[in-house]
Amino acid sequence: MLGALLVTAPAAHAADAPLRDLAAAKGKVMGTAVTGSKLTGTYGEIAAREFNALTPGNAMKWGSVEPTRGSFDWAEADRIVDFAEANGQQVRGHTLVWHSQNPGWLTNGTWTSAQLSQLMNDHIALEVGRYKGRLATWDVVNEPFNEDGTYRQTLWYNGLGADYIAQALTAARAADPAAKLYINDYNVEGVNAKSTALYNLVKSLKERGVPIDGVGLQAHLIVGQVPSTLQQNIQRFADLGVDVAITELDIRMQLPSDSAKLTQQAADYKAVVGACVAVARCVGVTVWGFTDSDSWIPDTFPGQGAATPYDENYAPKPAYEAIAQALGGSQSTEGCTATYSVTSQWSTGFTGQVRIACSGAALSSWKADWTYGAGQRITQAWNATCAQTGTAVSCSNASYNGTVPDGGSVTFGFNASWSGSNPVPVVTLG
Ligand code: XIL
Repeated sequence: MLGALLVTAPAAHAADAPLRDLAAAKGKVMGTAVTGSKLTGTYGEIAAREFNALTPGNAMKWGSVEPTRGSFDWAEADRIVDFAEANGQQVRGHTLVWHSQNPGWLTNGTWTSAQLSQLMNDHIALEVGRYKGRLATWDVVNEPFNEDGTYRQTLWYNGLGADYIAQALTAARAADPAAKLYINDYNVEGVNAKSTALYNLVKSLKERGVPIDGVGLQAHLIVGQVPSTLQQNIQRFADLGVDVAITELDIRMQLPSDSAKLTQQAADYKAVVGACVAVARCVGVTVWGFTDSDSWIPDTFPGQGAATPYDENYAPKPAYEAIAQALGGSQSTEGCTATYSVTSQWSTGFTGQVRIACSGAALSSWKADWTYGAGQRITQAWNATCAQTGTAVSCSNASYNGTVPDGGSVTFGFNASWSGSNPVPVVTLG
């Protein structure tokens, strides 16, 4: 046998388009929650470059805009809307009617039903009216359900009954007829009691002619726990005739993070974004903060974090690449190499292998392509699916070996025929 021939392919430096361009090419929104005061420097650059929609993380909540009754602070909300307009981004208003982050004067007051109704309607008229024509979407009602699908006992439910939801939607439509009106909740990503309650509510609102344009699935998820029924659930809402948005995606893990967790997280991000891409009426995905330095997770879930696509220092994580891929971008293979070698050769045939190894990077799927220069032909492959058209060979991962972790490798093999000479091709990784 001949000695093994070795060549290391240069890693492809796929200069991926920004997420917002990839999303736009698919007719989708790729958004992020933001903090208004941070919209300068690197944070501002990434927010503007990568996203075509912004959601104020806190700035439009009632407690933020009217901390004292009748005295308003729109500074942060205005700043975010101005920034979005300057950068060609949509804004998702968040949120009008909720049980949380309300001003003390509201929650501590004693109100009759008539007063509560008036307060809610006035608040909606004022806030939606202020941004009329400038916001694409409003999360009108946030988190109305308990886990078992019963209504959450809130200020609004207790005072006005379940119809506060219809009232709020009607008031929002009157204040800005062009804005898409949503009900938004968490733990409604898969098919379960809570999402079914939301489904039944939306169905009945539609039947009654109450203005409802969409359903927001927050998607505050845990690594390795993307609901298997996510796409099916998105589809059933779409089939009701409403839009669906993933509104607050983050995928948390027990700290410290490590490469295995980050690789799983990337696969999870890919699954969520992929599920949205797969359903026409899923309008897009918003991440709840794009950097781990601006995430609510560590404060709310002690010991957990690393939930967003960028680390604290604004370095993109594997999750970033995964989102890009789910949006149709080509994977950056920087940090990964493909090594082609002939392991044995006889008069008419040879056995070859390709080893894909990553260091400082990881892949969640792979494709290795090369061109044969001397008439070689693949006859059989294992641990990959290989196809040859003319001189062009393209091998992609099997179902079980798409992941190449940071510091790890995957190898596949093949038999091929040759005659005359058997030069080693250059492998391109994709
Ligand atoms: C969170 C914010 O990110 C935090 O900064 C704040 O302290 C608490 O609220 N569901 C929602 C969001 O609808 O408004 C919440 O945002 C996260 C859960």
